[in-house]
Amino acid sequence: MKDASPQTIYLKDYTPYGFVVEAVHLTFTLDPDATRVKSRIAFAPNPDATDRTFFLHGEDLTLLSARIDGAEVTPSLTEAGLTCDVPDGPFTWEAEVEIAPDANTALEGLYMSDGMYCTQCEAEGFRKITYYPDRPDVMGVFTVRIEGDLPVLLSNGNPQQAGEGWAEWHDPWPKPAYLFALVAGDLVAHSDQFTTASGRDVALNLWVRPGDEGKCAFGMQALKKSMRWDEEVYGREYDLDVFNIVAVDDFNMGAMENKGLNIFNSAAVLASPETSTDANFERIEAIIAHEYFHNWTGNRITCRDWFQLCLKEGLTVFRDSEFTADMRSAPVKRISDVIDLRARQFPEDQGPLSHPVRPESFQEINNFYTATIYEKGAEVIGMLKRLVGDEAYAKALALYFDRHDGQACTIEDWLAVFADVTGRDLAQFKRWYSQAGTPRLSVNEEWDAEAGRYTLSFHQHTPPTPGQPDKAPQVLPIAVGLLNANGDEVVETTLLEMTEAEQSFTFEGLTGRPVPSILRGFSAPVVLDRDPGPEERAFLLAHDTDPFNRWEAGRQLARESLLAQITKGAAPDAAYLDGIATLVRDDTLDPAFRALMLGTPTQSEMAQVLHERGTVPDPDAIHAAAEALAEAKALRLAPIFDALAMACHVEGAYAPDAEQSGKRALGSAVLSLQTRRDGGVTARAQFESADNMTLQLAALTCLVRAGQDAEALAAFEEQWRHDRLVMDKWFAMQIAATAPDNALPRAEALTAHPAFDMKNPNRFRAVLGAFAMNHAGFHRADGKGYDFVADWLVKLDAKNPQTTARMCAPFQTWRRYDAGRQEKMRAALQRIADTPSLSRDTTEMVSRMLQ
Ligand code: ARG
Ligand code: ZN
Repeated sequence: MKDASPQTIYLKDYTPYGFVVEAVHLTFTLDPDATRVKSRIAFAPNPDATDRTFFLHGEDLTLLSARIDGAEVTPSLTEAGLTCDVPDGPFTWEAEVEIAPDANTALEGLYMSDGMYCTQCEAEGFRKITYYPDRPDVMGVFTVRIEGDLPVLLSNGNPQQAGEGWAEWHDPWPKPAYLFALVAGDLVAHSDQFTTASGRDVALNLWVRPGDEGKCAFGMQALKKSMRWDEEVYGREYDLDVFNIVAVDDFNMGAMENKGLNIFNSAAVLASPETSTDANFERIEAIIAHEYFHNWTGNRITCRDWFQLCLKEGLTVFRDSEFTADMRSAPVKRISDVIDLRARQFPEDQGPLSHPVRPESFQEINNFYTATIYEKGAEVIGMLKRLVGDEAYAKALALYFDRHDGQACTIEDWLAVFADVTGRDLAQFKRWYSQAGTPRLSVNEEWDAEAGRYTLSFHQHTPPTPGQPDKAPQVLPIAVGLLNANGDEVVETTLLEMTEAEQSFTFEGLTGRPVPSILRGFSAPVVLDRDPGPEERAFLLAHDTDPFNRWEAGRQLARESLLAQITKGAAPDAAYLDGIATLVRDDTLDPAFRALMLGTPTQSEMAQVLHERGTVPDPDAIHAAAEALAEAKALRLAPIFDALAMACHVEGAYAPDAEQSGKRALGSAVLSLQTRRDGGVTARAQFESADNMTLQLAALTCLVRAGQDAEALAAFEEQWRHDRLVMDKWFAMQIAATAPDNALPRAEALTAHPAFDMKNPNRFRAVLGAFAMNHAGFHRADGKGYDFVADWLVKLDAKNPQTTARMCAPFQTWRRYDAGRQEKMRAALQRIADTPSLSRDTTEMVSRMLQ
């Protein structure tokens, strides 16, 4: 199907398209096997372009007819699209094509999900709908007519006329084709209304399948909060008469910001207390905000080309993080984001898939919707904001919206507004966009007691990454505070701006040697190589006034304890256990923060840390150490279980807000320790009495960990077999949380379960993704875990390349492990690579990993 030797596309080769699109009219006549798409597009020569070759993208289309200015033409068809001779001036292109949405299992373009028509066009899906210049710098005004025998027919923009079996839509805002959307189905709306700051009334609808009406209220509230927040914080108003959101069960990613018609994976929008956990609610609120915020950062101002993806994604992730920090707890959000960055972005940046925040080449752009573009992209904006300050950031953003509204932009445009507002030279800062890899930062301290002078000397170094052997120094904003021996802050958080490979900063006028709190708030996405020893860490755990670094001190103690257990056979560190025990019973602290403090590094994070320190990680030893540490913690905290359970008590009806969620998070962390002491008695009681999914799933997870799960798993399945999203949790959790030996047999058995459906990305991820998260289970020494995943990836690739390619990620760390495991992982990757007619998506991923 796909070309044998995929082509590489380069940023440096960018040229503008030869034509501008003045208007687009589309008519869809829907049919599962033979949908007809008629297009009428007004083109005019682009005065900014030199190359006038008329090329339209098109893939998997049957061209029925083509006309230019009304006269039939015969274009030359290529594998990727068509070319045609065109007049010198403006002209009208008309075409009719046929497509087969029901056969579209890739879920890109127009496809069907259980009787409902749905689209996903980002990044390059529109070319599977009709012939078009499918590139983000070509923006047009779309008018769409849909004909189909279904009650609800939706597209972008504002509704126009409609009748029995047809509807028309007009989107007045010029947009690139990747923001096109169409939905048709038997849907019901949960409706509401929003009045913008300037008084425009907007009709809001959340469209779901009949039966899901009860899962809409939370998403709708999240939408209204997002709309208000973007007005208040960024001065951005909504700009159409309607805002539609649709939930769809089969979706490759989380959600999509199509203009006026956001399409969501149902897991990323549907929620109810009985079926969703607190974590689900929080994630849904963040994704609704993210897609809504794209209306300005993505849609009104879009990307010139896909190399600039971080222009909209990094910025929009940054904005949704700010939103969550405002809605909930800022420190808790920051800590959670850093946990996520280390778990997903650091392995990417430090392995064979490492790429800059703005890549310079790709084969398949869908492979670049990565943690680096999104999350590191957001970190880069956070650093920029810290460096210029809140006020200049606000001015720069106002200038960005003002100057670039309606345009398709680049990172150069983005940085120019900051340079213009602040007068700063951002040339060195721009390296964050071009240089891949995680910088390592080390520190030396000097204390001159006589002079009262304290000096911090930093050294930064970024290890080589594929294609980038030598790295230049980055601009690092390093937030530092100094504490005295009593734990009082003697120097408040100060931003040190490091620009050299080596640089010193001096603090004068101190009366005693201070304890430094370095990289407060995780002010730069680096690995801080510094070992101040357990005493200083315990001191910071007890006293640091920066919540992030306080958490980090505990995390480091846990990490060091695990390392010593693994490499020296040491016992779990008493200083860590004491520190945690003191902190966790401190009722002045937010329960959500205490829950985070009780957490320990994941086993794959430990594998990463061991690797960073030059030790080959042994997954079984890591698992054993993690178990031993948890046992020791359970023993240490057993006397205060009851007191902690009291502190977690929630009054009144369930609400997924920060306060209640924090208490339940702490309660769940305690329950998992308690289960180690009471054999599951408390967990079983909670499982039986739970009236919300957070408590029910937490209890079930404890029972799975304890190996006491047979009855509870059966009861849960019986209770929830009708609910797809809850069943995804049932599949995933019992694999991720079970003992390593049991993970593969269980995952294998579940792929034979009647409800396992490889074509549904959520279900596939629930089984295969969860299995890869069972670190020691996936990394079984016999290599059978690798074979199992590889076999399924090969099967899925023929149907859904995009999800297959994404799910290759667990193999990216293969070079970390011992020779035996390395050879088995390499062989599994090679077997995937050797699969006949492997997709371009998966080919690119496995070949980068094997390089
Ligand atoms: N722009 C979407 C978002 O960030 C993601 C869409 C990615 N889709 C894809 N097929 N690569 O919300
Ligand atoms: Zn996005």
